[in-house]
Order: sequence, then C-alpha cells, then structure tokens
Amino acid sequence: MTQPLTIALSKGRILDDTLPLLAAADIHPAEDIKKSRKLIFDTNHEHIKLVVIRATDVPTYVDYGAADLGVSGKDVLMEYNSANLCEPLDLNIATCRLMTAALKGYELPDGRLKVATKFVNVAKQYFAEQGRQVDIIKLYGGMELAPIMGLADLIVDIVDTGNTLKANGLEARDLIAPISSRLVASRAALKVKHAQIQPIIDALSGAVERQKQTALAD
Ligand code: ATP
Ligand code: PRP
Repeated sequence: MTQPLTIALSKGRILDDTLPLLAAADIHPAEDIKKSRKLIFDTNHEHIKLVVIRATDVPTYVDYGAADLGVSGKDVLMEYNSANLCEPLDLNIATCRLMTAALKGYELPDGRLKVATKFVNVAKQYFAEQGRQVDIIKLYGGMELAPIMGLADLIVDIVDTGNTLKANGLEARDLIAPISSRLVASRAALKVKHAQIQPIIDALSGAVERQKQTALAD
C-alpha cells in the first residue's frame, strides 16, 4: 500500500506561485484552497494531502515530521536554520533578495549599529561575519518604519521591486542572500518515504523547468 504523504504549503504570496506549479506536476487539491477556510485538503492522489499554514511555520511541521514535504522561502529556512532539513528542489518562485537597507544617504555610525528585522538569526550571523557589533531589534513587519522613527540605523528585509524602500525614503545597501522558495524535506522523511517523495520531486522539477522555458520565451 502507498504510504500517506503530506505537503505543507506556505499561505500568502508563496501560495499564489505554488498552486500553478503543483497543477503542472499533476497535484490538484480537491477544492479551491484560496476560497476555503479549511487548512487540510485532499488531492487527486489518494495518498497525498496538502496543508496550508503560515510561511514561518512550514519548517517546523517538516522538521518534526508532521509534514513530509514543505514549500518555504529561503529566507524563512535561513532563519529557522535546522541541520535536519534539506532542500531537494529550488522552485524558482517568489524570488526576491534579503538585504540591508537604510535611510537614503544616511551615514552609518562607526560603533554599534541598531538593526531592526524579523530575521534575527540571519542578521546576527551576517553582522558577526562582517565583524560588526550590532543590537538586533526584533520586529514582526513594516521594518521600513524603524529607521524613519529613529528606532534603528539599518534594517534587514526582503527587497523585490524596491518600491517599498523608495516610497519610505530608504535605499538598499548590501545583499545578504538571493531568495526563492524551496521544496523542503527532513532528512528522515527523504529516507523513509523515498519511494513516495522522489516522483513528486521529479514532477515538480519538470514543472519548474517548463516554467523557466516559458519565462525565457516571453
Ligand atoms: P507571515 O504571514 O508568516 O508573517 P509574511 O507576511 O512575510 O509571512 P508573505 O508576505 O506572504 O508572508 O511572504 C512570504 C514569503 O514570500 C517570504 O518569506 C519571502 O520568501 C517571499 N516574499 C516576501 N516578500 C516578497 C516580495 N516582495 N516579492 C517576492 N517574494 C517575497
Ligand atoms: C515585503 C517585504 C517588503 C516588501 C518588498 O513586505 O517585507 O516590505 O515586500 O517588496 P518590494 O521591494 O517589491 O516593494 P510584505 O508586502 O510581505 O509586507 P510585510 O511587511 O507584512 O512583510
């Protein structure tokens, strides 16, 4: 008998890009995820279920084995930082950059920097590698406000078009990492459920390649 398999999807903007990829890999939810209040969905494959949760919770579900696979932003995975998780496939969706940013033209002080971010672990590691002493201030959103209000010298945040920074009088400074969403699995699940997981990786990999070709042709 085929073992059951659960895929944890990040809700929000990643979901918009994930559903077409799943469809191209012939994984179709039994009902319209975006119109439903349900959190768990059957699919056209009897053994595959989808759960839809907050982006930041996906690595936790996969790490603890409650879900076998997940779809997560690289930023979220860097922040979660578990050696138990691996990324069998770059889905090439929700692409953006994790960057530092400051008020336009603002000269950084020489001493300790105040850095506001929701990516506390990533920021700590990044500034330690740079040899900069920092006080990290944890925020949960709207990081762009922190330098304007004098709360921080720098922020660490996602940049895509740069419109949010520009609209708030900020500028991008240094690139920390290019970001895209990844298929994520625990090392244990990859071993134990290899027979179920590998065909899904292969189907999604084909879908990612086709999407890349279409983007090149446009
Ligand atoms: P949560 O609800 O858990 O706080 P969130 O509000 O950050 O999450 P989204 O805005 O949907 O959720 O973003 C989720 C992920 O999408 C991010 O972790 C990142 O990988 C990617 N992302 C965020 N902002 C952008 C953007 N402007 N362009 C492209 N991808 C982005
Ligand atoms: C994300 C990110 C930036 C913005 C960057 O915010 O935190 O604020 O997108 O995109 P841009 O460079 O194209 O302007 P989001 O819209 O997810 O809101 P949030 O502050 O709640 O995370």
